[in-house]
Amino acid sequence: MSFDLVLFGGTGDLAWRKLMPALFQSFRHGTLPEGGRIIGVARDDLSDDGYRELIRTRFDEVDLSKRPTPEEFSRFASLLHFVRMDLSDPRDYQRLALQLNERKADTVVMYLATAPSLFTITCEQLAAAGLNTAHTRIVLEKPLGHDLASNRAINESVRKVFSENQIFRIDHYLGKPSVQNLFALRFGNALFEPLWRRENIANIQITIAEDLGVEKRGAFYDNTGALRDMVQNHALQLLCALAMEPPINAHADAIRDEKLKVLRSLKRWTSESLGQHVVRGQYIAGSVNGESVPAYRNEPGVHAQSNTETFVALRAEIANWRWAGVPFYIRTGKRLAGRDARIVISFRPTPHAIYKSPAGEANRLIIHLQPKDGLELHLLAQGQEMRGAMQSLAPVHLDLDFDKRFGTERVGAYERLLLDVIDGRLNLFVRSDEQEEAWRWVEPIIEHWRNESSGPRAYAAGTWGPSAASAMIARDNHCWNEEC
Ligand code: BG6
Repeated sequence: MSFDLVLFGGTGDLAWRKLMPALFQSFRHGTLPEGGRIIGVARDDLSDDGYRELIRTRFDEVDLSKRPTPEEFSRFASLLHFVRMDLSDPRDYQRLALQLNERKADTVVMYLATAPSLFTITCEQLAAAGLNTAHTRIVLEKPLGHDLASNRAINESVRKVFSENQIFRIDHYLGKPSVQNLFALRFGNALFEPLWRRENIANIQITIAEDLGVEKRGAFYDNTGALRDMVQNHALQLLCALAMEPPINAHADAIRDEKLKVLRSLKRWTSESLGQHVVRGQYIAGSVNGESVPAYRNEPGVHAQSNTETFVALRAEIANWRWAGVPFYIRTGKRLAGRDARIVISFRPTPHAIYKSPAGEANRLIIHLQPKDGLELHLLAQGQEMRGAMQSLAPVHLDLDFDKRFGTERVGAYERLLLDVIDGRLNLFVRSDEQEEAWRWVEPIIEHWRNESSGPRAYAAGTWGPSAASAMIARDNHCWNEEC
């Protein structure tokens, strides 16, 4: 099956940090269908060879194990081409059409790794040049809009040109092997399903902590913030994977229908819950992994009085039979104490104690998403000598490390998702109604912050965020995993 992958934003950050390395890995693993072309598109004045050379030098920044040898690169480079385009100029689309029509590949993928403000015009111009044929797929990178209205506007304009099953909205968290395993844990095993409900689960925590700051994306991030950058998409997709009902089959719409139901069941915000159950923070100078780092407001591209949040913690509830009353805590931030994405499911304590057990200790299932990829099941066991009639129990845990079990050379998120696009599998892509529902839910938070006289709470870089996040969860007599 031949394919042409047209990469708009072909010299941009995402292209060389994530997409080219992923395409190369797939090439190396022999999974990239043969006879493909990767056509970079940007305003730069480059020949095919100039583009190949640019990509080659960029590979020097990739992890050593993922870097091509000169021989591998020269084979990979033969797939690379370049077309210079001004995305507002119809003549440039005609030139692209000429290049694509030269050989009429079985599948054409238009990957928009550009600013979302260019999505509408690009789609309109693709259609005007006759480039929206039935064998074309379009990939849209996040952020898809800034709020519900702008998200809808983009979705509407793209749908005028492409049908929903040609549109691949990327949320790269869905492509992570650890997230695949979350689906497998729930829907490939019968063990946990009977326990997976309010009767047995006390609370669920989703943490996506990053030790990195805003890197070279200060200006973008300052207009975005953690809520739009991480909660509206990645964190809510994880929440859906945790809370959804088993789908009737593994087809894209069966999965997406169930995720949509979760988003629709999220309890709506009130002024009281907005005041009590949402914490925003912004980092000040501190030390991360032993290195001093500047305050967010001193990062390049960031406004000196910025009130953009680099941390969010919130408490969500899902109003349905399975989950009513179970708090789902979400927490994410930049410049936190470490890079650690995990889900912690805390089960209810035994209804009646016949053993002594350490205070607060109950069964927990920890799903490690990254950097570790695995599961830990925390139980209580009797390891000590018997003392007195009532025996003491000690915490123990079962530890399953997927990297050890399956090897670290597993297919990465972008590699997996790019192959899915080429093959036309939509399971791991987000439907427009899901996206809109997620925006509908976060919008009142944005509105609340806009009207609040106080800004985000300060936290020192290298910590777990503002203390208000701990106070929020402590009000329910729960604690964040690292504090318990
Ligand atoms: C991106 C955000 O979507 O996800 C970034 O825009 C963030 O700000 C990144 O750093 C996190 O992805 P990962 O795969 O490194 O956890």
